[in-house]
Amino acid sequence: MLVNRTATSNDEENNGEMVVTPWEVKGKVDYERLIKEFGTQPLTTQLLEYVESHTDKLHLQLERKIFFSHRDLDTVLNLYDRGIKFVLYTGRGPSGPVHIGHLVPWIFTLHIQQKFGTRLYFQLTDDEKYLISDNLDLKQTRKWSYENALDLIALGFKPEDTFIIYDSEDIDLLYDISLEVAKRITFSTARSSFGFQDSTNIGWVFWPAIQAAPCFIHKKLTGENVPALIPAAIDQDPYWRVTRDIAQKLGYYKPAQIHCRFLPGLGAGGKMSASHPETSIFTMDQPDVVKKKIWNAFTGGKGTAAEQRKEGAEPTICSIFQYYFFLFEEDNAKLAERERRCKAGEILCGECKKDITEKLNAFLQAHQQRREKAKDVIEQYHVKR
Ligand code: TYM
Repeated sequence: MLVNRTATSNDEENNGEMVVTPWEVKGKVDYERLIKEFGTQPLTTQLLEYVESHTDKLHLQLERKIFFSHRDLDTVLNLYDRGIKFVLYTGRGPSGPVHIGHLVPWIFTLHIQQKFGTRLYFQLTDDEKYLISDNLDLKQTRKWSYENALDLIALGFKPEDTFIIYDSEDIDLLYDISLEVAKRITFSTARSSFGFQDSTNIGWVFWPAIQAAPCFIHKKLTGENVPALIPAAIDQDPYWRVTRDIAQKLGYYKPAQIHCRFLPGLGAGGKMSASHPETSIFTMDQPDVVKKKIWNAFTGGKGTAAEQRKEGAEPTICSIFQYYFFLFEEDNAKLAERERRCKAGEILCGECKKDITEKLNAFLQAHQQRREKAKDVIEQYHVKR
């Protein structure tokens, strides 16, 4: 059974069972099961072809099924073909620095924005992170909002089409929509969708209405009623389930989603998560830190080099191989060759680790430079009224 709860369970209690909520991902994630239990749709070949017909070439994240599931993507594309554009909406909970897992849905969002010429609303939820964490005050989460916005801008989003919402600062834009949403969601629905408990603070219980609000903000800002398409990992889906139920009652389109898998952390299993810094690569990590973290990473290797040369290793369970697959080897033939050599014992983990360290550090160095430049232009991205 899929477990929904608000947070802070430990692995012993958990018995390795899959937990996927907006605040916690644990156990081995079974994506097929999530499609069934969350009630989403798989991305079919037919739908991928439909996307491809609008984008020249299928984005790598679609081709490799990193984005694997959706809600109403077909509807949004049909409307687009009939002249009704969609807006993009995604976000970040600013509890600390951005890691390369967060970049996965943002890179894809940029691609869709460029191909469809659509506007992006990007929500920075300093309020959420304040409400749900015991050790962060609002001043800290606001600071992280600013820092995290720099990472988004560094990916290449253009200010004309990118509207960043800083929740606590821009609450006047969200509040009336959140009230409309909140009034129509019962506590019983919220409890079963998010796992709220008696001990959950009431700020947190109301909070999902604030994450729902940007789905509908475009109408308020421009007068145009168009659907929102939300690219994000599957952990955010509970928000959209409750929002979709009430959208039409409020006179809006149901927000559509496209869901990605989780980039794993550097340990054995589990997603990359800022709450496990030793197994996460942050965008601001320096080369020596990256080298050390990669060196300590879990791989699918054997106990000794001799054994590995003889028996080969297991790329399917290797965190390093996943980084090539998700982000750092765009050439399918080269990826397949690496996989083959790994399984055949022709390449050892040390070599793969060395290669990925070089690729990661080159990527991070360029990202850090663009991030520095973003400081001069960040104001241009602040949502305009
Ligand atoms: P947050 O900060 O937990 O995550 C930001 C985005 O990154 C995705 N994500 C990952 N994707 C791939 N691999 C990973 N290891 C990984 N870890 C996180 C998340 O799914 C998310 O897309 N409440 C939200 C902030 C938010 C939001 C939104 C997110 C507000 N509005 C709309 C998505 C869409 C949060 O705390 O995200």
